[in-house]
Amino acid sequence: MKIVRLKTGVEGIDKLLEGGIPEGFFVAVTGEPGCGKTIFSIHFIYQGVLDGDKCIYVTTEESRESIMRQAAQFNMNFEKAIEEKKLIVIDALMGREDRWSLQSLDMEALVDKIIEAKKELGYGRARVAIDSLSAFWLDKPAMARRYSYFIKKVLSKWNFTIIAVSQYAITTAESFGWGVEHIADGIIRFRRILRSGELKRFIVVEKMRQTNHSRYLYEIDIKPGIGMTVLGRVRRRVEDYKLPSEVMRKILEAKLRSEGELL
Ligand SMILES: Nc1ncnc2c1ncn2[C@@H]1O[C@H](COP(=O)(O)OP(=O)(O)O)[C@@H](O)[C@H]1O
Ligand SMILES: [Mg+2]
Repeated sequence: MKIVRLKTGVEGIDKLLEGGIPEGFFVAVTGEPGCGKTIFSIHFIYQGVLDGDKCIYVTTEESRESIMRQAAQFNMNFEKAIEEKKLIVIDALMGREDRWSLQSLDMEALVDKIIEAKKELGYGRARVAIDSLSAFWLDKPAMARRYSYFIKKVLSKWNFTIIAVSQYAITTAESFGWGVEHIADGIIRFRRILRSGELKRFIVVEKMRQTNHSRYLYEIDIKPGIGMTVLGRVRRRVEDYKLPSEVMRKILEAKLRSEGELL
């Protein structure tokens, strides 16, 4: 059986994935703030528009306008795609009353809204980016796994390939990364570090079922007018880009202390 792969919109990333993300997959996209998760999701959705897929972008951390402005900076015209009924941006941040807004971060309401949007866009292959999915279990991290399973199960019946952004921070790794990643068919991890006074960003494909994916760390860049590009493979080991465990331990201790003081 031949696997149909969806291009991600970032050519260099497709190369790491034997051409793209297999149709119907539920892929977790994780990483610290500012490492490129939203920009990658924008690329993924816009590639869908170009390829004639029905596209939905759910935003929980930024307004619809903010996502559209960010896309426009990289010459991706979300406004036109919306007008042409190829794309719907569901705003779960502003709590507005319009048809494509969510009033609260409720999982069932989200799934209902995505299905309503799919019906509006019509029959055919679909893509959805949920940026972020972890926002839906902020106050109940134990639900992460159940929610991820629920969304994957329901949406796969509707011809969706799903990108689920999940927040990843040192102190919250257990509760936020965990649930999605176990359910996911794939995990794409972005990282960022400061090296010699410069912010650098990386990508590593940690998991992609049915794919002989790259197992290396690649440096990426975000360029004005273009967006995300892959620069090349990092010759150092992944461990060299991680904080030493002693530093991690100290950060965690300090965080726990400060939380203790707040209580
Ligand atoms: N027009 C632009 N040109 C260059 N870099 C940009 C531009 N817009 C955003 N960026 C970079 O992208 C970062 C935001 O990436 P984003 O995908 O939103 O991160 P997150 O992982 O938090 O979703 C910004 O902090 C900035 O470094
Ligand atoms: Mg983001």
